[in-house]
Amino acid sequence: MNILVLGSGGREHTFAWKLAQSDKCKNLYVAPGNSGTAEIAKNLDVSVNDFEAIKKAVLNNDISLVVVGPEDPLVNGIHDFFLRDERLKNVNVIGPQKAAAQLEGSKEVAKEFLYRHNIPTAAYQSFTKDNLEEGFTFLETLKPPYVLKADGLAAGKGVLILEDLDQAKDELRNMLVDSKFGAASEKVVIEEFLDGIELSCFVLTDGKNYKVLPTAKDYKRIGEGDTGLNTGGMGAISPVPFANEEFLQKVENRIVKPTIDGLRKDILPYKGFVFIGLIKVGEDPFVIEYNVRMGDPETEVVLPRIQNDLVDIFQAMGEKNLNEVDLQIKSDTATTIMLVSGGYPESYEKGKVITGLEDINDSIPFHAGAKIENDKIVTSGGRVMAITSFGETYQEALNKSYQNIEKLHFDKMYYRKDIGFDL
Ligand code: AMP
Ligand code: GLY
Repeated sequence: MNILVLGSGGREHTFAWKLAQSDKCKNLYVAPGNSGTAEIAKNLDVSVNDFEAIKKAVLNNDISLVVVGPEDPLVNGIHDFFLRDERLKNVNVIGPQKAAAQLEGSKEVAKEFLYRHNIPTAAYQSFTKDNLEEGFTFLETLKPPYVLKADGLAAGKGVLILEDLDQAKDELRNMLVDSKFGAASEKVVIEEFLDGIELSCFVLTDGKNYKVLPTAKDYKRIGEGDTGLNTGGMGAISPVPFANEEFLQKVENRIVKPTIDGLRKDILPYKGFVFIGLIKVGEDPFVIEYNVRMGDPETEVVLPRIQNDLVDIFQAMGEKNLNEVDLQIKSDTATTIMLVSGGYPESYEKGKVITGLEDINDSIPFHAGAKIENDKIVTSGGRVMAITSFGETYQEALNKSYQNIEKLHFDKMYYRKDIGFDL
């Protein structure tokens, strides 16, 4: 069959890399893609939110499976767009419909869902500018640090964690009254702070059946020792060593099952990945957030550990018999280290030539913000490339990634040298 992957990051290169290994994949397309996907698929110059252009590409290229990488098109209703169209409605779209995508699109919708289905999460209340004073009063009832979350999508920047009550009140006002995050902060969720260690759990569902994929932990801060600004993710490890069998059983019983049941009870049509951001408080899991897609760079460590043919899995999801898939996971640990442009996540330069890729061995370079220009691979974004390796232990895998990174170069290249430091 012909397959289209939507997106242009390391996540989408990993999807394309995995799909290209299937005998069932005839022609593979990525829109818009990057220099990595260009090597194994045909890149289409189409934006992920231009549904009409995507429709044309799907019809022209006889595509029957579409894998949606980022959240934006899902929240904008790409799956619903396909279902409404006579000629697209039989295309197997991997990604939830718009109503279900609100679990990521609105923090308040996610919190209401969690509460409705008795899934462990931090206590919360939400506020608009009309009840700002009540927001101040609520903050006074909480202990620091204070967690303020813009309700809508804010490119990963909409969460503030503040030590000081007055500062928390000021920021609440900035978000609600002065539109600190634009329309995304017209509503703000204030949450109880949970003190623990974070990890992510990934679930595949066809709406009826589910399969739990390997756990992963990503490193979001730019600086070593988890300091400095938040980024999209600077590295990841799978599996998470501190998530033992007993803890994972709690995650499945208290969180995964009620989430999948909740989607069905609430009639939220869901065929795709559920990315559950968790925090382990003592020995117990709590949900921090839902995402309605795979993580990036978590995909770069989770997908390479799946031994099954990914086309088979997606086909089973399309036919609602995911229960028949016998998921096989590599026991090895996978790690990935993200190479970023100097200055990221603030301003940085683009167009730097990347050298040394041909010398890499025993690691997989998944391209992200990188493109081909005049036959050279050059940087085109903040997060440039994720270097994934396997090992019997995470230290062994990390060593391979770091050794290979020594061979790579671009002007002002930066990466964290301490991924896994806290494990
Ligand atoms: P979110 O976008 O909801 O995942 O929040 C971003 C980050 O803020 C998370 O990855 C956590 O590190 C932190 N965070 C969010 N909510 C809480 C909470 N209730 N308690 C402690 N940390 C939190
Ligand atoms: N790495 C975090 C995310 O994809 O949201």
